[in-house]
Amino acid sequence: MTIVEAVRWSADGSAVDIIDQRRLPGEMLRLELRTANEVCEAIATLAVRGAPAIGVAGALGLFASLASQTHDTHESFLDTLDILATRIAAVRPTAVNLPWAIGRMRAAATSAQGDVSDIMAALRAEATAILHEDRAMCRRVGEHGAALLFDGARVLTHCNGGALATSGMGSALAPIYVAHERGQKIHVYADETRPLLQGSRLTAWELMQAGVRVTLLADSMAASLMREGKVDLVMVGADRIAANGDVANKIGTYGVALAARHHGIPFYAVAPWSTVDLATATGKDIVIEHRSPDELRGPHAPANVDVYNPAFDVTPAELITGIVTDRGISSGVGLGSLHHYTTTPASE
Ligand code: MRU
Repeated sequence: MTIVEAVRWSADGSAVDIIDQRRLPGEMLRLELRTANEVCEAIATLAVRGAPAIGVAGALGLFASLASQTHDTHESFLDTLDILATRIAAVRPTAVNLPWAIGRMRAAATSAQGDVSDIMAALRAEATAILHEDRAMCRRVGEHGAALLFDGARVLTHCNGGALATSGMGSALAPIYVAHERGQKIHVYADETRPLLQGSRLTAWELMQAGVRVTLLADSMAASLMREGKVDLVMVGADRIAANGDVANKIGTYGVALAARHHGIPFYAVAPWSTVDLATATGKDIVIEHRSPDELRGPHAPANVDVYNPAFDVTPAELITGIVTDRGISSGVGLGSLHHYTTTPASE
């Protein structure tokens, strides 16, 4: 099974090596990001996207952008670190993984003793730990979520919660990859995901690379597919999970959850624990990114028409059957017993 590597260190360890997702599925091109401008532009324009992937890219990117500059004094190094960390963390507001990863990098710098080279060594080590932990969390998410699948399961997904959205085997698609490894035949229905088509450009492409059966549909077709009895369960990723279990994910997820509830179809949000934000009480407190109107205008709309273009919506906890994380699967509304873990348990 071929699972793509969306984000990793460059061969020389001084840059972030990403798949340029803006070019998929037409062209598979890798990019090396070395400066803060390159890192911020890649995250803002979705060259690298998906909550865990932008967290990892932000952490590696903070190290790379500091390594690409010269630092005259210890104080000027710390000032630059502060400015770049603040800038990178703010590029996209909804996914918690980005400020979470940058927060870890800041904490590593604060606890490092010694001169600039010692702090840089600590930053490289922390970024590498974030990368490796993300890969491991994705695998555990997949192992827990695979318990919900069975041979012949038909799974609807929205957006791309696959390997392209993480540094590992994905979030929403990780259970599907684990089930596929175990020899189960899973049939994925991929919503196209308007307006930026992460479903058709990315999910359909990466599932086909991995040899998983996938059928593409326009977003407007999902409810009708459910009514025809062709969906056994829904698995979507998450950009931020509030303490009460409300889930922010790609725009359109809320509608999928409403349709699933109407048809009695289980709806799972699947994410590593790094996407859980216990400091945010409910979905109402999550900042939703609104993107350029030009993503919706173009040849099929009048020039300058007013546009509503939120990139994410919030699905309330009561519409979610379970939240699948590397800590296990919640039962009942919200995160339930998953709250009580203090460390991530080992792979089962
Ligand atoms: O705007 P994007 O493509 O970054 O949005 C991504 C999503 O909404 C994913 O579903 C989410 O990040 C979870 S995938 C790990």
